[in-house]
Amino acid sequence: MARKPISEEEQREIEARRRIEQIAERKKRVSERAERGGLWSRRDFFGRLSWGGFGLVSLISLLAFVRSAFPRVLVLPPSRFKAGFPGDYPVGEVSEKYTQEFRVWIVREPQGLYAIFAKCTHLGCTPRWSGSENKYKCPCHGSGYYKNGYNFEGPAPRPMDRFQLSLDEEGQLEVDMSKVFTMQPGGDPNKQHPDSILKV
Ligand code: FES
Repeated sequence: MARKPISEEEQREIEARRRIEQIAERKKRVSERAERGGLWSRRDFFGRLSWGGFGLVSLISLLAFVRSAFPRVLVLPPSRFKAGFPGDYPVGEVSEKYTQEFRVWIVREPQGLYAIFAKCTHLGCTPRWSGSENKYKCPCHGSGYYKNGYNFEGPAPRPMDRFQLSLDEEGQLEVDMSKVFTMQPGGDPNKQHPDSILKV
């Protein structure tokens, strides 16, 4: 049997009744919560707690991701530095002016200037220049080197290396630590790498 169509007035009545029922239902839920002790039920509390935890973990993961997109930059010291003018170095002197900062001795001899890398060829300690003994002495295991970097005592297997020394356009000395003259065992460093000596 076909249903009788609902009139507009009946429709409005149905909707009004539905709204009243919804309001009553909401009121009931609120009063139940209040009876259970406060605005948040136990279930609400744990529900919110777990959502909060989830949110925190997500935030930490996001921060970790953002951080990995911007890796820490390792700042290296410059590989070149200016070392004054040749006239600043008297013949026969071993200058320790740049040893602390760059681990380099600038040495002037009658044949020219050169830059020694102050690194013991045994295990890498920094030797010390002793003017009174006219030698470099390694404090770690006692290796000794002559003024030109040649090893003559202790466990060091070879002479100390040198860096390239040149003059810039103003006539100033420039040490390029990216260009290393590597020394082999048993040979006079001046003869192994004559290019390491800047003739001025
Ligand atoms: S590191 Fe220099 S002697 Fe061992």
